[in-house]
Amino acid sequence: MKVLVLPDAAAAADRAAGIVADRLAQAPASVLGLATGETMRPVYAALVRRHRDAGLSLAAVTTFNLDEYVGIAPDHPASFAAFMRQELFDHVDIDPARAHLPRGDAPDPATEAARYEGAIVAAGGIDLQLLGIGRNGHLAFNEPTSSLASRTRIKTLTPSTRSANRPAFAPGAAPRQAITMGLGTILDARACLLVATGQSKAEAVAATIEGPLGAHCPATVLQLHPAATVVLDEAAAARLALRAYYETVHPGGGEAQVG
Ligand code: GLP
Repeated sequence: MKVLVLPDAAAAADRAAGIVADRLAQAPASVLGLATGETMRPVYAALVRRHRDAGLSLAAVTTFNLDEYVGIAPDHPASFAAFMRQELFDHVDIDPARAHLPRGDAPDPATEAARYEGAIVAAGGIDLQLLGIGRNGHLAFNEPTSSLASRTRIKTLTPSTRSANRPAFAPGAAPRQAITMGLGTILDARACLLVATGQSKAEAVAATIEGPLGAHCPATVLQLHPAATVVLDEAAAARLALRAYYETVHPGGGEAQVG
């Protein structure tokens, strides 16, 4: 796992956006996996800036978001579809027909989950998957004890995840379930890019990078991925035992020096 530690959240977001932009410069028709959450807002803002000021184009890109709430339609203001329009899609040249999210309002969510998994495969798989992390170590909505081999399916949210997401919904209306890519689906991406910022993520980050592999912390599954990069700010990196080693390998969160 490549561990890059940046001085603050803004620098971490910019570094992550730079990795995505570099990928698109090499392969403009890439398939990107996208994430939602507060951590992603500055990452998308940095991509929008690059689009506006530096000629970054998403015109040939295909995207698949990680997850969506069951029972929530794409036009619901608290849907992940609305989040993506607001933070990214409405501000870049992406083709909306190639920007995919699971349909939370599908009549049969299990069928929708299977369709979504198939659509990812039909698109040739994901080249670069952006990821955030929950305080309990979840990836997408793969809560603790999720199968490390899981595919896109329905997951019931933990009380802590529901309360973290509650502010977006009217009182009593926070969804109980989501359609989420599985951990096996995420592992199939050709590269993974996890972004974590802030002290509230420090424990989950340390468990993910240095802890034992296991479903107690779903993000540890990234230890099995051959091309996983983790971009952190100082606060999220605070509990890493091997912090000095990562700094030696990637000084200032830069690329490794060889030789
Ligand atoms: C949600 C999303 C995850 C995200 C996590 C952390 O539950 N399903 O994909 O990584 O929250 O979000 P935040 O960045 O707001 O802490």
